[in-house]
Amino acid sequence: MRAVDIIIKKRDGLVLSREEISSFVQGFVNNTIPDYQVSAWAMAVLLNGMTPQETADLTMAMIESGDQLDLSDVVDIAVDKHSTGGVGDKTTLVVGPVVAACGVPVGKMSGRGLSFTGGTLDKMESIPGFRSDLSEQEFKDQLKSIGLVLAGQTADLAPADGKMYALRDVTGTVPSIPLIASSVMSKKLAAGTTAIVLDVKTGNGAFMQSVSEAEQLAAEMLSIARLAGRKAVALISDMNQPLGTAVGNALEVKEAIETLKGDGPQDFRDHCIEVAGHMLLLAGRTDSIDSARALVVDSLASGTALEKFRQLVKIQGGDVLVIDNPDLLPFAPIMREVPAPISGYVEQVHAREVGLAALELGAGREKKGDPVDPRVGILIHRKVGDAVQQGDLLFTVHAGSEESCDAAVERLLAAHRIVPEPVKRLPLFYQTMEQ
Ligand code: URA
Repeated sequence: MRAVDIIIKKRDGLVLSREEISSFVQGFVNNTIPDYQVSAWAMAVLLNGMTPQETADLTMAMIESGDQLDLSDVVDIAVDKHSTGGVGDKTTLVVGPVVAACGVPVGKMSGRGLSFTGGTLDKMESIPGFRSDLSEQEFKDQLKSIGLVLAGQTADLAPADGKMYALRDVTGTVPSIPLIASSVMSKKLAAGTTAIVLDVKTGNGAFMQSVSEAEQLAAEMLSIARLAGRKAVALISDMNQPLGTAVGNALEVKEAIETLKGDGPQDFRDHCIEVAGHMLLLAGRTDSIDSARALVVDSLASGTALEKFRQLVKIQGGDVLVIDNPDLLPFAPIMREVPAPISGYVEQVHAREVGLAALELGAGREKKGDPVDPRVGILIHRKVGDAVQQGDLLFTVHAGSEESCDAAVERLLAAHRIVPEPVKRLPLFYQTMEQ
């Protein structure tokens, strides 16, 4: 079976068989099919789509490209959450410790920043010393000992996804429902998770721009989970403006720590309460979403979630001093505060533009393998619906150089729209989809 024939078939809108998908994925992982052919194929998938059966076959092929973790000898239930990617989305840093502190183990394989969205590993690695390259044995041992792991995808788990994810990032092939669904679900299923909360983002700062596209993606992922015999629920959440205040790696860690201490921006805190609540409910820790939310609020108020975060940072080699003193996190040399140019109400804080500004400051990657600058980013001080007076602080840029700061300020001013009439706040969630 020649790779080019599989590419042509997809280019012409035909349906690939399980064997064709499997041999293509194997060839990619064994390096017998080069990156340029996989890029062309990914573009054909993005343009022509896949049937639900092809998406399920692709997911299985990606899972079978590597090892599969069996966590049943370590924990009875391992719950996980996955966001389809957003701007300022540091939810994992809070909900992981919260859920683990409530007695439900969380073994999480996270990704790196993709395109204009941030990645949990890049954020956590802004904590000096923190290592995310755990072996499978370390993953299991840690899950057993502290009930919480935040690791990178090991080279042996769904390796096809690891390679494909990096390639899609730099070939414009990220926003494809079958590619995102198989990418997310192959990682989750290979990592042995038994229950998964899917945080499916929608809006201009998400890969799915409309609620209906997000619903389609959620439905595909729920159906893959069902076929694999795992429990799942999908929350469709807003990503038209950044989540919380901070965008950028160290800045987001700082905001997550504040939230774990019981503070943090209200929208981000409410988002975390909902996601963590659904994780506890799915894991059977409680029997109603209201009691699950109450457990989450307790663990934030009592400090047990913060304590769990401390254990996590310590066991993965990070400097725990940053938890008590987040000013020890990497800090950019230039910090510029930008005031509102006019008075009125904030109608738009364009999430994608904010993500792109952060990317250009160095918080994300222009191309595969680029290093990220943990210090840089943006603080958004006013959200959609807020009233502002001319001269009020609108946003702050943390930059590595004056030139990159100037460019970010220009982009961010254009990303904000202030209008004279009052504006409705954006919802946090649009709906919950069950299996
Ligand atoms: N998150 C993933 O894990 N994969 C994608 O393709 C997009 C977001």
